[in-house]
Amino acid sequence: MNETLEVIKRRRSIRKYKPEQIPDADLQAIMEAAIWAPSAINQQRWHFTVIQNKDLLNEITELAREVMKSGPEFFAKRAQDPNFSPFFHAPTVIVISGDAGARFIQLDCALAAQNILIAAESLGIGSCIMTSPEFFFSTEKGQALLKRLGVPEGYKHICTVTLGYMEGERPEPKPRRENTVTYLR
Ligand SMILES: Cc1cc2nc3c(=O)[nH]c(=O)nc-3n(C[C@H](O)[C@H](O)[C@H](O)COP(=O)(O)O)c2cc1C
Repeated sequence: MNETLEVIKRRRSIRKYKPEQIPDADLQAIMEAAIWAPSAINQQRWHFTVIQNKDLLNEITELAREVMKSGPEFFAKRAQDPNFSPFFHAPTVIVISGDAGARFIQLDCALAAQNILIAAESLGIGSCIMTSPEFFFSTEKGQALLKRLGVPEGYKHICTVTLGYMEGERPEPKPRRENTVTYLR
């Protein structure tokens, strides 16, 4: 297997991070990978907000806690944990937003996100793609916060990616469903 294929298979969703920040040169390389993703009709109508500011991350955590406490049981339980972090205490969080009026924007942003995950793994940095932040970003307070995060007018949250060095053991790979490929030769 070549290195690219190995990196793709080795990547796991990481949900425990060390507090240590990732090097800026690595972050730049990761974001470069993001913007080199393909996009429908080359529209590139995505936006990436890279958050490393601890006060801002704490502020988002408090909003998440408030919203999730009155959400479904699984969310409510998580939010009650005094050590709760919607981003698993990752030191870098990337909010990916896309032009709400652009066709295939979910696909475009997903491809950019996958580039981020793979580039991060290739540099020894753990990551997790998440859509659950939609739960609190979609509230009135969440929308106001997205504005402050520099999300352009008319853009919506698509997904969020956490980045940082993995704490503890790499999670075991989850078994992949079988028979999901049809070959016609
Ligand atoms: C569209 C999408 C949304 C996801 N949302 C979340 C999420 O909100 N929270 C989370 O912890 N993981 C989330 N994940 C990660 C998946 O749970 C994970 O990819 C899956 O369990 C397979 O594990 P692996 O990434 O380690 O191979 C999401 C993944 C995708 C593709």
